[in-house]
Amino acid sequence: MVIKTAALVANDNNNNNNDMVVTPWEVKGKVDYDKLIKEFGTQPLTSELLNRVGAHTGKLHLQLERKIFFSHRDLDTVLDLYDKGTKFVLYTGRGPSGPVHIGHLVPWMFTLHLQQKFKTRLYFQITDDEKYLVNDERDLGETSKWSYENALDLIALGFKPEDTFIIYNTKDIDLLYDISLKVAKRITYSTARSSFGFQDSTNIGWVYWPALQAAPCFIHKKLTGENVPALIPAAIDQDPYWRVTRDVAQKLGYCKPAQIHCRFLPGLGTNGKMSASMPETSIFTIDQPDDVKKKIWGAFTGGKPTAAEQRKTGANPAICSIFQYYHYLFEEDLSKLKEREHKCITGEMLCGECKKDIAEKLNKFLEAHRERREKAKDTIEQYHIKR
Ligand code: TRP
Repeated sequence: MVIKTAALVANDNNNNNNDMVVTPWEVKGKVDYDKLIKEFGTQPLTSELLNRVGAHTGKLHLQLERKIFFSHRDLDTVLDLYDKGTKFVLYTGRGPSGPVHIGHLVPWMFTLHLQQKFKTRLYFQITDDEKYLVNDERDLGETSKWSYENALDLIALGFKPEDTFIIYNTKDIDLLYDISLKVAKRITYSTARSSFGFQDSTNIGWVYWPALQAAPCFIHKKLTGENVPALIPAAIDQDPYWRVTRDVAQKLGYCKPAQIHCRFLPGLGTNGKMSASMPETSIFTIDQPDDVKKKIWGAFTGGKPTAAEQRKTGANPAICSIFQYYHYLFEEDLSKLKEREHKCITGEMLCGECKKDIAEKLNKFLEAHRERREKAKDTIEQYHIKR
């Protein structure tokens, strides 16, 4: 299997469907996370490092316990500084290309946990400009509308306005522009091309754009005078941005941003991450209960063609998209998760039961989420980054 990072995809016209593709704009195929660590040159999250995090947070968050966050850069450095009394800020974001699905909420929930335990500020960038530039058909009004809608989903998770600062790129460009210029001046086209796979036909807005995703890494110094590192919890596909940003940070007098990388929540189909471009395989926060049931019912599982066969030979949770939901989010108790796995493997529990349970859990979660999302309409302005 070949790993295709941005540069390779750009130079390869014979993409095989099963090849793994991981770029900031496309994730496809079966993702091999160990290979990504090697290819991207990141560090695995070791148990030693997890223990250090646990010393601050108490019981490890589910997403660390299950290695959903599995890799990092400089998390150890950030913790060293924190132990000596220098805080960090959190930074993550969202490309507003459509409604938010459960896969987007996974790293945001973890970000909230870090924010609460380490008592740090969060900068959250909403990149309506990026989503406009990278897609021929989208217009700017559309991506700006999704910015608002997606911010409601973030707020609904429980972030507090005192320490959560949402940056809407086109509205807040005045805060980002000077920083992005400094970054852009120090990244050559040749570096950008090899990091992102730009081609002759790439529009020049897109070529500049990475400097805007870099800017929030450094915005805290501009707003407060404090020079502290940003820690970025995000899916691993965003890593090329951080590689180029880290290269220029110190030359500009800033701390290098640190990262903690997560996996993608698989979609309900056979392969790949949950993706808004395949709506039948994604659960959106705005999906109504019947849609959720329908999607879950049509999901790919590790089950056998007949109930009789499954009772006899058992099923395979390792390839089951439904089991992943329990693993990533909906079964916090590890022993119960193991029990479910065992019952699946031995044929004691059939897919219908598992699907029914998850549809109920999902709908319960989504109902409460939608209520909080409605309430967020009254407070959303309080989260908008202030000058
Ligand atoms: N590029 C991201 C996307 O398309 C959005 C984003 C901006 C982001 N800044 C970020 C994601 C920081 C994670 C961390 O979704």
